[in-house]
Amino acid sequence: MGTSGRLVALEGVDGCGKSTQARLLAAAVGVEPTAEPGGTPVGAALRRVLLDPGLPDLDERTEALLMAADRAEHVARVLRPALHAGRWVVTDRYSGSTLAYQGYGRGLDLDDLRRLLSWATGGLAADLSVVLDVDVAAAAARAAGRSGGGETGAGGADRMERRGAAFLQRVADGYAALAAADPERWAVVDGSGPVEEVASAVRATVAARLGEPPGGWR
Ligand code: TYD
Repeated sequence: MGTSGRLVALEGVDGCGKSTQARLLAAAVGVEPTAEPGGTPVGAALRRVLLDPGLPDLDERTEALLMAADRAEHVARVLRPALHAGRWVVTDRYSGSTLAYQGYGRGLDLDDLRRLLSWATGGLAADLSVVLDVDVAAAAARAAGRSGGGETGAGGADRMERRGAAFLQRVADGYAALAAADPERWAVVDGSGPVEEVASAVRATVAARLGEPPGGWR
């Protein structure tokens, strides 16, 4: 694929703590973390459309296409250039999120989504996707509790967070199935402990799978 860096994605349900863990892992690798949706200027605009609770609910295909568009832009502008330069990239969400949320969560066909993602990313897959495994009810409460700015405007949950616990449970089960089906490219880390404990487990998992980042662990 012409890349020499490594692409690591943090995955998990809303409120699982993956944004914090992406930041800590990126610091340990010595890079800035990046995120989807919204890791580019165009992506930030797409993110507003995707999460604005003031807009009517998106058809699931529209949602998948906008997520894929955000990812295409992220790959072209941020991920590929960094990987080509030999850097490691730590992203808060990648293609696994679309399979888990739009596939298992919203019921779109997984093979259709895989073809869409393969086209959108030019075939760039994550070298490792790390799922933070947490209790879904606790994560949903956490996600609801911290909403209040950003795309939610006046407070309250954004559109994805409004889908509720049953939806998030399907997403969590989807992540478990994805990880079980492809243990080479997926790892599951217990996300329920204290932040530092989870961070060292994530680091240890990445080190065991991918070795040392350029310049070593910070
Ligand atoms: P994110 O910013 O990671 O929110 P959080 O920090 O609450 O986890 O993601 C925003 C929402 O977008 C989240 O509900 C997950 C959803 N999402 C998808 O449904 N599909 C995707 O492909 C991606 C990247 C995100």
